[in-house]
Amino acid sequence: MNKEELINKGIPKHVAIIMDGNGRWAKQKGEDRVFGHMNGVSSIRDVLKAAIELGVSYLTLYAFSTENWDRPKEEVDALMNLLVKSLLEEIEELNKNGVSLNAIGDLKQLPDNAQALLKKSIDLTKENKVITLSLALSYSARWEIMNATKKIAEKVKDGSVSPEGINEEMFSNELTTVGLPDPELLIRTSGEQRISNFLLWQLAYAEFYFTEELWPDFDKESFFKAIASYQVRERRFGKISEQIENE
Ligand code: FPP
Repeated sequence: MNKEELINKGIPKHVAIIMDGNGRWAKQKGEDRVFGHMNGVSSIRDVLKAAIELGVSYLTLYAFSTENWDRPKEEVDALMNLLVKSLLEEIEELNKNGVSLNAIGDLKQLPDNAQALLKKSIDLTKENKVITLSLALSYSARWEIMNATKKIAEKVKDGSVSPEGINEEMFSNELTTVGLPDPELLIRTSGEQRISNFLLWQLAYAEFYFTEELWPDFDKESFFKAIASYQVRERRFGKISEQIENE
């Protein structure tokens, strides 16, 4: 796929990805599920590079959902260790390449060492401008929406906001994605066609791209293909084609 051609056709600002299929990939190879997660980290590296090359400004990855805490303890521990190990190994390279690291989700649930390292890495890279890489960790959209609702309810209770004064912008500002534009494109690998409690509010107008490829097989070329597919879609935002053509 020609990179220049893709760039000329318009690149989404924000791409979100549900990285799925690590376990199945490992099983197909007769390996432990954790082997799949380890190889999933290389796909993250490839996709981040591809996103930078194309000029994507925000990349958000579903790395660990609230529901993932219910997996066997060994797998949860392995994922948390992999997070810490990957951060330690990659942070300098990320920083050198202008990546600003961000994390969304109920981060207080993470082990202390992961929380501390995330905070340090986010602080280190906060001035970087090439791309914002957001890791969704202990994230679920319903949790996030409930959380935002509680915060706004508190403001109504203390009288600083009236019920009529609640609007979409105020709501967005209470979500963990505050400051990020809504994703224009959601990619999910491994053939599953579900949203799985990811960015329910933010994906209201996103295009969805599903591929059979398992996450550890997803590479730069796969990402380019997803972008090319997005580029031939017509985004109408509830309007009709003629209105969009005349804009
Ligand atoms: C989905 O595959 C993947 C995950 C639940 C975790 C994604 C994690 C990585 C790519 C590695 C990096 C990890 C961190 C925490 C930064 P699955 O296990 O659901 O696969 P399956 O559907 O085939 O079982």
